[in-house]
Amino acid sequence: MSAPTTLHLAPDEPGLAQAAALLAAGELVALPTETVYGLGADARSGAAVARVYEAKGRPNFNPLIVHVGAAAAARRYVEWNRNAETLARAFWPGPLTLVLPLKPGHGISPLVTAGLDTLAVRVPAHPVARVLLDRFDGPVAAPSANPSGQISPTTAGHVLAGLDGRIAAVVDAGPCSVGVESTIVGLAAQPTLLRPGGVATEAIETALGAPLARHATGDAVIAPGQLLSHYAPAATVRLNAKAARAGEVLLGFGDMVCDLNLSPSANLAEAAANLFGFLHRLDGLAKPIAIATIPDHGLGMAINDRLRRAAAPRGRPDQA
Ligand code: TXA
Ligand code: MG
Repeated sequence: MSAPTTLHLAPDEPGLAQAAALLAAGELVALPTETVYGLGADARSGAAVARVYEAKGRPNFNPLIVHVGAAAAARRYVEWNRNAETLARAFWPGPLTLVLPLKPGHGISPLVTAGLDTLAVRVPAHPVARVLLDRFDGPVAAPSANPSGQISPTTAGHVLAGLDGRIAAVVDAGPCSVGVESTIVGLAAQPTLLRPGGVATEAIETALGAPLARHATGDAVIAPGQLLSHYAPAATVRLNAKAARAGEVLLGFGDMVCDLNLSPSANLAEAAANLFGFLHRLDGLAKPIAIATIPDHGLGMAINDRLRRAAAPRGRPDQA
């Protein structure tokens, strides 16, 4: 029963009260997080979660992250362990998602995990997300609020460009500060990096006191969401460009001549925050996009992961 028109809610008391009421009624509400906007639904309601997959056009085998207000709430749903405690203390609230075994009697809809016996949980840091989670007082399943496979949204405008009329509401709190999705770490077995993201991999390894196992792209069983072609603009994408070729627009980094620069001062956090917004802007020009080399450390690992997927060949059977 998605509303035919999507409400544009302010992040104030009445707006958040309405957003919480919509979530409680099983409706879809896009909400700001510090990483990207999420498409929120009550994670205990199969009907609500089914609407998420439908609105995004997301393949059913791709599970969702559950958002909660505090680590204590996460522990109701997953089997906690020492590594989880260490990382939660170091990085929550914040752009880190932990994958842990589901606990008996968890109450989360099986549609959220797409049949896996593990659950991805995260405590977001965005103050508006935190108030909304507090108000709703339940687990919120939220993938990025974009049609599946397209560029992730870092503004309410991006959300509406992709999902207007398909979701009940969007809470507009301006642009997201981190700009790339959370880092996902699997802790059900050996600590494993499942997706680089907003917390630098090196910082996680320092907190754990051990290197993370790396998960090879394409290992569908471990990280079903890591489809190769993803974050895809309509235009073609060429990586590691030194200069624009005829007809191309150039997305730069550091001191260079280009159409848009992710960070003229070569700051990776600034580049991450600008990444999806700039891709949305360049995509609107309907020209091939060339992108400069980004250093592959810290948040650069998350940026390069998204860029490789944006540049990957399209139209594979598993593309979403
Ligand atoms: O920053 C973020 O993580 C954002 C905001 C909204 O929180 N959310 C986000 O969700 O990026 P989404 O659905 O776009 O990506 C979730 C990823 C997918 O690659 C999915 O396959 C993976 O998490 N995932 C979810 N549950 C999993 C599980 N039990 N085991 C392994 N991977 C899982
Ligand atoms: Mg996504």
